[in-house]
Amino acid sequence: MNYDTAYKRWSGVGPYYAMFPTNFAKDVVLSYTYLGQRILDPFAGRASSIFAGAAHGRRSTGIEINPVGWIYGKTKIRPAMADKVKLRVREIAQIARELPADAGNDLSEFFKFCFSESSLHFLIAARNNLDWRRTRVDRTLMTLILIDLHGVRSRSFSNQMRQSKAMSPEYSVKWWRKRKLIPPQISPVEFLEKKIKWRYAKGLPEIVKSTVFLGDSCQLMSRIQDQMINRDERSFKLLFTSPPYIGISDYHRDQWLRLWMLGGDPVFARNGEKHKGAFVSEKAYKKLLSNVFLQAAELMSKSGYVYVRTDARGQTFEITQEVLRQAFPLWQERIISSPYSKQTQTSLYGDKAIKLGEKDIILTGPRA
Ligand SMILES: C[S@@+](CC[C@H](N)C(=O)[O-])C[C@H]1O[C@@H](n2cnc3c(N)ncnc32)[C@H](O)[C@@H]1O
Repeated sequence: MNYDTAYKRWSGVGPYYAMFPTNFAKDVVLSYTYLGQRILDPFAGRASSIFAGAAHGRRSTGIEINPVGWIYGKTKIRPAMADKVKLRVREIAQIARELPADAGNDLSEFFKFCFSESSLHFLIAARNNLDWRRTRVDRTLMTLILIDLHGVRSRSFSNQMRQSKAMSPEYSVKWWRKRKLIPPQISPVEFLEKKIKWRYAKGLPEIVKSTVFLGDSCQLMSRIQDQMINRDERSFKLLFTSPPYIGISDYHRDQWLRLWMLGGDPVFARNGEKHKGAFVSEKAYKKLLSNVFLQAAELMSKSGYVYVRTDARGQTFEITQEVLRQAFPLWQERIISSPYSKQTQTSLYGDKAIKLGEKDIILTGPRA
């Protein structure tokens, strides 16, 4: 891919498990909506659908429960100005220089194998001081840090690691020890200034007013409905989403290191909280999908479309199809079996089993 436009440079923010390929998101938006129409994604991930919509003149609304996906989405639809972000990098570097020499010594050995001392001090200063939930500059800087928090050793803050998901601390330390890999010695300021220069080089994408909420769709969908009623807003033309797949990924565990940066505990553990695990219970999965899709149906225009990308395999597909049929009883259904592409959940999981790929369920409203 060449990165000759602002759209292409920002649509890639950031590495996230099971993300839509950016061209796919754009194609769906352009095929199923016109300028000025509205798009909804209640399982937004890194907000590929929302960004594609917002950058093509379609007001878009997303919800995402994982702060890593949310911060990527929120930043790319409204990044801060580059100069302000650069200034903030220098302020954080100054705070890092003032930290006591033993800062970070309370963390496990993983952190010393993963980051050089100066990187770790910078990361701790950023973690303690960036108000990413509330301020745009801090959120943008945190997003840029998260993108390269781990990845190829020469191109990230970390020792050699995958960029899409963080491995367990024990596994990583063993792996680095065996290969005698030490963390890269980088200057966080120079490193981030280079990243900022590249990201902003083609400017900022033109975005229409859009938003991504952080939280649980089961609860937030009613807030969107209240807003629509209060503001007398038109209903959504396209519901474009991809729910989590049963038993495939644990978005919280896979992102444990980035979640630590966002203030979470420095542990690699199954979260166990509702909607945050690997979705192993069929019953709970069906309940989640029913809750969200039934509420979404209330917000949709009868002349609209539903585009849901899901796992082609048994349970996930069958439950999704059944729930969609209940939520949209009068809508016409069409299924597209997508060819297996690299950016699916299973390929990123490193799963060598036979893959049946993904299926897209498309519904057309009774008045379309
Ligand atoms: C398949 S991913 C979506 C990927 C997205 N299409 C993209 O391009 O990044 C499913 C997402 O649903 C989120 N999710 C799961 N349960 C949720 C809930 N109750 N409310 C909001 N988001 C939820 C997960 O955290 C995950 O990011």
